Amino acid sequence: MAAESAIAALLAGIDSYLARFEHEGVAEVRRGLATWGQGALTEMTPLETAACQHLDAALAAATPPELAAAIAAARPFLRWGGYDAYPLEDIGAAFAGGHAFASLIGDGGFHAAEDFDLGLFVIAPDIFYRDHHHAAPELYAPLTGPHGWRFKPGDQLQWKPAHEPIWNAPWAPHATMTGAVPFLCIYCWTRDADALARVIPSNDWPQLEQRA
Ligand SMILES: [Fe+2]
Repeated sequence: MAAESAIAALLAGIDSYLARFEHEGVAEVRRGLATWGQGALTEMTPLETAACQHLDAALAAATPPELAAAIAAARPFLRWGGYDAYPLEDIGAAFAGGHAFASLIGDGGFHAAEDFDLGLFVIAPDIFYRDHHHAAPELYAPLTGPHGWRFKPGDQLQWKPAHEPIWNAPWAPHATMTGAVPFLCIYCWTRDADALARVIPSNDWPQLEQRA
């Protein structure tokens, strides 16, 4: 089956990409990949949402090229959707309509897992993903950049290039400002994947979102 080989190649590509990092959390993610990311696939109905219009530009900019190619080859089989646990007034309409994720392993993914979720995450250019936190420890491995990050509401953004993984400990606040190139990353929640994320209010959102 075409989907099976494309998804297997994508998961192998993600694993070999992650293998280059000594970064906190990466070993845990790779353990989950090795544990859950094999065997028979659950068939998924492919779906692209409005934010997926940014995938072309994201994939053109994403490196390494072999991983971008593996994502492009798997794209026809991926099921994208929005993270809908945030109240719209908390997260804002720009992010709500400007992001999509596709789970590969986990609930709604190609491979079932016990409390683990790994996939791809895209955000449109010039969007502020407001300060938030969650019980799940989280790895972001961005394949495009630069993007702005902060780890405390109200702080200045730190701009980081692609290929600088971010590890968010449980309940650690974080926020992301996308740059001119769409944000495309590998995401993973290594446990507590069913606990909902929550927005943390900050009074500088209007300035940040005006800038975007
Ligand atoms: Fe997060």
